[in-house]
Parts: sequence; structure tokens; C-alpha cells
Amino acid sequence: MSERSQGRRFDRDYNVTTHAILFLSDLDPEMVGDAGAHATHYQAVPVIEFRAMIAALPPGAIEDSTFVDVGAGMGRALLLAAEHPFKQVVGVEISPALFEVACDNLKRAPREKRRCRDVRVVRADARMWRYPPGNLVVFMFNPFDGEALRVTIGSILHRPNPGTTWLLYHTPVEEAVLEEFPQWEPLGRSGGGSIYVAR
Ligand SMILES: C[S@@+](CC[C@H](N)C(=O)[O-])C[C@H]1O[C@@H](n2cnc3c(N)ncnc32)[C@H](O)[C@@H]1O
Repeated sequence: MSERSQGRRFDRDYNVTTHAILFLSDLDPEMVGDAGAHATHYQAVPVIEFRAMIAALPPGAIEDSTFVDVGAGMGRALLLAAEHPFKQVVGVEISPALFEVACDNLKRAPREKRRCRDVRVVRADARMWRYPPGNLVVFMFNPFDGEALRVTIGSILHRPNPGTTWLLYHTPVEEAVLEEFPQWEPLGRSGGGSIYVAR
């Protein structure tokens, strides 16, 4: 099945709308401030590739971790992550228009698919959001350029009381930025992305 058909099928099965390609400049440019200049476009993660990245996490990485989607868009990765027993699943999205769609999708999607009971989305700039303490599984689907990635990685690594941080970086076009941070240990590649851990 093509990626497009999988996306449509996901939307049908979950009773949501996530399949789209949109530019922030066409949505609400006046609401996103300078983040718009660093952002890529909105596109939902391919379902099979997201599942492959989650499956590549080491045993035990899920139950004791909060999942954070940096640039949550319409919430597809949140809904897929919530099929696993994370302590919490949270998406951070800068665009008010996409945030509204994600909120609506979280309400519409069937609860019986969820193994995580605390699933939410916040409207915030992921560069300076206050990342939760403890263990994190951070997901990024190429949300922004290297400059914004550098600031965001700093916010994640320097959060108070950090635990272990796994990073799932899909379409890792700015991967060179991660090499600036000696904390990241590469764990390999899966589902179109690179996986790292910082302990
Ligand atoms: C390629 S989409 C990924 C959507 C979603 N993570 C998924 O996989 O289905 C990237 C998202 O990052 C968001 N974004 C870009 N810069 C951001 C920022 N500074 N803070 C929060 N979200 C941002 C965009 O609005 C867009 O929704």
C-alpha cells in the first residue's frame, strides 16, 4: 500500500484528519512569530515508519517515559504513540490552526486504541518550551532548520532533573547539529529516521 493510501486509511480508521501538506505561511503566519522563518512544512509522519521507529526503542524505554512530539501538527504521531503505555504523550505545536485540528483529532479518535491515558497537545514554541523532567522519548519529524534544532536540543538536554532521553529524528536533514552535542550516542537507523540516546 502506498504511503498516501496508508495515511488515508489511518484517517478513516481513527475518524480524524491528518493527511495534508501545508505551509505555515499559508495558515497563520502572523501567529507564529519568527518560528515561521525556521519551520518546515506540515506533513504527517508515514504510519509504518513511525511504528518502525518506536519498535526500535530498547525494552523498558516506553513504560517509564513521557513521549514528546516536537511539532505535533495535526497529531498523527501522538495518536500512534498513545497505542503504547507511555506515562504521558504530549505534542508541542506552534501553529494555532494545526493545534486546533490536533485537539479536535484527539477528541474524535477512538479511546479503545489507547494504552496511554494522558494524551495532550499544547500550543507553544518547541524551542523554549519547558520539557518535562525524567525520562523522555522525543520525536521530531524534521520540524525546523538547524538553528531552531540547536536551541531545542539545548532546552531538552538542560531541562531540570533530566532522566534518560531517547531521540527519534525522522528525516534527519539537520543531523550534523546533533554531533555538536557529545551527550548524544547514536543507536542506529529505523523507519526513515535516526535514533539517539543521552543518559
Ligand atoms: C513535518 S510536521 C510533523 C507533524 C507531526 N509531528 C507528525 O509527525 O505527524 C512539522 C511540524 O512542526 C511544527 N513546528 C515547526 N516549528 C515549530 C516550533 N518552533 N515549535 C512548535 N512546532 C513547530 C510545524 O507547524 C509542523 O506542524
